[in-house]
Amino acid sequence: MTRRVVQTFAEWRTAARDLVARSIAPEYVEWASEPEDGDLFSGFGSQAGATALKAAPPPGAELRLPRQVMDMIEDAACFNALDRWSFLYKVIWRWHLGERDVVSPADPDGARLYAMVKAVHREQHDMHAYVRFRERKEEDGAPRFVAWFEPTHDVLPQVARHFARRMGPITWLIATPGQAILWDGEKLIEAPSLLRSAADIEDAGEALWLTYYRSIFNPARVNADLLRSHIPSRFWKNLPEGAIVPAMVTAANNGERRTGQTGTVGQRGGATSIPIAPERAQPQRELPTSLDQCRRCALWENATQAVAGVGPAQARIMLVGEQPGDQEDLQGLPFVGPAGAVLQQAMQEAGVDRDSIYLTNAVKHFKWEPRGKRRLHKTPAQREVAACHLWLEEELKRVQPQVVVALGSTALKSLLQDGSATMTAMMNDGHPAPVQHDGRWVVTVYHPSYVLRAPDEASRRQAYGVIVEGLRQALQLIQR
Ligand code: URA
Repeated sequence: MTRRVVQTFAEWRTAARDLVARSIAPEYVEWASEPEDGDLFSGFGSQAGATALKAAPPPGAELRLPRQVMDMIEDAACFNALDRWSFLYKVIWRWHLGERDVVSPADPDGARLYAMVKAVHREQHDMHAYVRFRERKEEDGAPRFVAWFEPTHDVLPQVARHFARRMGPITWLIATPGQAILWDGEKLIEAPSLLRSAADIEDAGEALWLTYYRSIFNPARVNADLLRSHIPSRFWKNLPEGAIVPAMVTAANNGERRTGQTGTVGQRGGATSIPIAPERAQPQRELPTSLDQCRRCALWENATQAVAGVGPAQARIMLVGEQPGDQEDLQGLPFVGPAGAVLQQAMQEAGVDRDSIYLTNAVKHFKWEPRGKRRLHKTPAQREVAACHLWLEEELKRVQPQVVVALGSTALKSLLQDGSATMTAMMNDGHPAPVQHDGRWVVTVYHPSYVLRAPDEASRRQAYGVIVEGLRQALQLIQR
């Protein structure tokens, strides 16, 4: 085993090229970001751990990566994951072995690479949009503008280049929890971050900005949900206007909506009051056009991507799960993880051809909480299920299945549009009991992960048996 300590992409690239040249396979490399005793002299020069794989090119074979692939890897390197360096080494290693699929979204590693790049691009975009510079009092040598931002991924260097292009000779500093970058009007300089939060920045111009913001805020047209979905809540605390918006929204909801702007309009003479009915004042907003852009609830913020349903355009059976899990979130496909394996086995046993059914979830983004290095599934709240129902409804309308199989209680509640629906009510003596709803059959069975969590073999068999039975019933119902 050889160990490499890297902190930046440039360091990783040098180390990775060296390892590839020595033909050292990923499983023999340990990547770390902090040196340990003895690291100084370890690794380099050692041939220990040279790969035993026959397919590996001989030591010394040059690594050739097209520019496009290198760009993807460089972007993915900004993704804040503990295993980023080892994962990226695995990608270039597989490329070196001739496995070109490794950069295809159809390959599990390729899918993860794409997801990482996408998340990094989104973070860069958000940072361009939500960095707020605060103007400082004139002091010799200090930057004129200072901003604080807490990015999820390590995108500060790229974003700093963007602002350097946009702001010309004006000096500024952007600080994040781990790093700061200063623009002295000519060049970018990395600096340790001495700030701890936006509150550490004094702002000479903030009062002016808030007055301006108050004056353009129109209570008659305020749409708090839209505001929240356009500006994700994690950014609010660092936006200067974040402190005054809640009070203005409350005031709008408590009556200012009806008399919006009358104060200023009234001073011009003529009508002193312009009553505006809330329904008329609300602009007619379009629904989000693509699932990827959905901001109907906050789950998208921590998910890698939205996971849409898959299957034939006119499938006669639709299976609805709860929400994507860890693997589904990374690969962008439903039921490709452990629960998917149980479902696959049950479908085979029931004689249901996976290619003939449409597979989707009630909630399209992965909801999770961190547990050590793992992302643990968290059951979606009813309001999240309700927010996502729009997409399930769209799939039902489009695919028009004759039978829908609800895998578990979340799917059932969403399908019936009834937060109090229970699995027990949909079973007869422990067997699935199909019901008609909205002109189609709904069969309810346990969720496949319930089988995985069952405490003993007997309950596992029972839960699994119910899934197989429900799938068989679905087949019989379409054959009627
Ligand atoms: N569990 C689900 O409900 N859906 C998936 O896609 C995966 C696991």
